[in-house]
Amino acid sequence: MIPYLDLHTINAPYEADIKQALLNVVDSGWYLFGQQVSAFEQEWADYNAAKYCVACANGLDALRLVLRAWIEMGLLERGDGVIVPANTYIASILAVSDNGLVPIPVEPDPDSYLIDPKAIAQVLEDPASSPAYPVAKDVRIRAILPVHLYGQRCEMEAIDTLAARHHLLVLQDSAQSHGIKTKGTCAWSFYPGKNLGALGDAGAVTTDDEALATVVRQLAFYGSVKKYVHHYKGVNSRMDELQAAVLRIKMRDLDRANARRIEIATRYAEGIDNPCIVLPKAKTTHVYHIYPVLTVGRDALQQYLLEQGIHTQIHYPLAPHQQKAYREWETLHFPITERIAAEELSLPCNQSMTDDEVSQVIAALNTWRL
Ligand SMILES: Cc1ncc(COP(=O)(O)O)c(C=O)c1O
Repeated sequence: MIPYLDLHTINAPYEADIKQALLNVVDSGWYLFGQQVSAFEQEWADYNAAKYCVACANGLDALRLVLRAWIEMGLLERGDGVIVPANTYIASILAVSDNGLVPIPVEPDPDSYLIDPKAIAQVLEDPASSPAYPVAKDVRIRAILPVHLYGQRCEMEAIDTLAARHHLLVLQDSAQSHGIKTKGTCAWSFYPGKNLGALGDAGAVTTDDEALATVVRQLAFYGSVKKYVHHYKGVNSRMDELQAAVLRIKMRDLDRANARRIEIATRYAEGIDNPCIVLPKAKTTHVYHIYPVLTVGRDALQQYLLEQGIHTQIHYPLAPHQQKAYREWETLHFPITERIAAEELSLPCNQSMTDDEVSQVIAALNTWRL
């Protein structure tokens, strides 16, 4: 049996260190706002070559807090538009609507499945020709939220150029892309299954913008600028010492773990040779949080692999615009996104796989017939 992702095996190499670090936190009697969180913030900022890191409770909060901070700083107003990928996990988009902002979905590049800079330019420069026109037409677009989906870096140079030309803010959803090393403001999730995963929920914001980092930190602590002095109607969103201690241990091994994912993805790319299966084409840095293949026979392939003892997942069976949560978009059509939702299958691709398991996956894919 080859699991899609076995967190026990993923965490096994760090087990002794993690247990000791957790015991140390228990013994310290200090569970929030302690040394572990501040050391994690420093180390995660350094790892990403960012000036500031603010830890928070989860990835959705990290996204929400940045957008909210920009509203409080007067850089965004409720009702403003934020360009988002049509093909993403819904959390990226929830963060926008939750702040009273208007998400404007745009299509992905058909090869990378990531937000397409050409589609962004289209909605900015020729909105009437974009499939997002019905939601974008009366909205002042003020920001772009690219998502480094599946662990692949978006075409940030092109996106940053468009943002500069149109005076837009950029918030990168880096929840799936630990290790891609990108400049700018990023929201991170350390959900247990991520490339850098905690033993529960955790998140963070990295940025070079000191004012933004300050407001995010204040918002995450009840909106207080100092104890019992509240300038904002903030929230409670914090990473605890236990999660920070775990993340600090696993972070030291992140590059090695990512290198193993890349090695497996390279073997898939070289070994899978089935004309009915489309393999991902990496245009940019990729840390393979997910290895997505496409086929018109997706459900049959998933069943076939299961019969061979290989577990897979689907990311994601319904795109955000197809969800009841966004029923106001039910008349919108994003054909590339819809194709991905109908055809995507995620193969197991993580550092706990053996070479033999990788060979088994390749062999099974090559023997499958539509
Ligand atoms: C692309 C993306 N954005 C945001 C999130 C939200 O992160 P979290 O689950 O930590 O809230 C996730 C993961 O769940 C995600 O995959």
